[in-house]
Amino acid sequence: MSFTILGTGMYAPEKIVTNDDLSKLVDTNDEWIRKRVGVVTRRVSVNETTSEMGVKAAKAALENAGVLPEELDLILAATVSGEDRSPSVACMIQNALGVSCAAYDINAACSAFLFLMETAAGYFARKKVKKVLLVGAERLSGIVDWTDRSTCVIFGDGAGAVVLGEGDNYLDSVIHVQGGDEVIKIPSFGGTSPFYERETPVPYIFMNGQETFRYAVNSICTDITELLENNHLSMDDIDYIVPHQANVRIIDFAAKKLKADPEKFVVNIDRYGNTSSASIPMALDELHRSGKLKRGDKVIFTAFGGGLASAASLVIW
Ligand code: UT7
Repeated sequence: MSFTILGTGMYAPEKIVTNDDLSKLVDTNDEWIRKRVGVVTRRVSVNETTSEMGVKAAKAALENAGVLPEELDLILAATVSGEDRSPSVACMIQNALGVSCAAYDINAACSAFLFLMETAAGYFARKKVKKVLLVGAERLSGIVDWTDRSTCVIFGDGAGAVVLGEGDNYLDSVIHVQGGDEVIKIPSFGGTSPFYERETPVPYIFMNGQETFRYAVNSICTDITELLENNHLSMDDIDYIVPHQANVRIIDFAAKKLKADPEKFVVNIDRYGNTSSASIPMALDELHRSGKLKRGDKVIFTAFGGGLASAASLVIW
């Protein structure tokens, strides 16, 4: 046994920031951002914390699934931008929902939502749980350097969630890690110890954009190909691909390399930017609520990012 996705939900803060708004902060322009990244607007938190956004997405997913919070046996959350190192975002969501089940976070940056699914699948396989809540929540506005035009135009804030129940619809996954911090790094606050001899890093997202781009296209293609081969499927058997929303050109390149119909790729980066671990559940929620998904459809999730880590999963809707 693995699981079935019972419901989805998302939340994005109300404040919309346009490319023109950003051109007042850094040397950029609407045309460059649209063409090179594909973002038109992103949502930015004004007051809300990461876990507050996560709670709103979680409540939407629970309602959509017809599941009560007290039915939950486990809450897993993914984030690189939680308000505190402890309690975890999952613990704060558990508290806000007023429940007492186990709750913890997993850190795998932009790929983390797929790591949550894989972890949850283990609990279902051992029949330890009946209902599980997964949440990806990010307030990246707090860890972006708003004077760095190569990163501040890309990211956005938001949260996505799914509720899982018993079933056999999570078919397979692949996970690959190339550990290292040369390409993407999000330093923690380094501390002010008078005994440290090394300089403490600035706690903002650092990314070598071109290296990340290459890694992203390559990992989408190799992960999906491996997943299809392992399950004796071809691209034609797949109804939708929900990719991490990092750059619309990454998605276009990968679709071309895979010789896949670009229409199968779900894209919402134009409205939300890159929301790291929240991007896949947010895109899935929009796809679900559009009414396009039919029971029995085969869906692939594909993600890549800091770690470096990448993953792909195959699910039957
Ligand atoms: O979710 C985590 C994973 N992250 C990603 O997957 C991101 C992957 N990387 C990317 O999406 C792209 O590499 C970026 C969007 C970050 C950058 O796009 P690019 O096409 O790779 O640009 P580039 O770094 O090669 O820079 C091209 C030019 C440079 O100017 P020169 O040196 O050619 O004069 C940059 O300084 O574009 C310039 N540039 C900008 N110009 C206007 C960089 N950022 C901007 C900007 N506005 N915001």
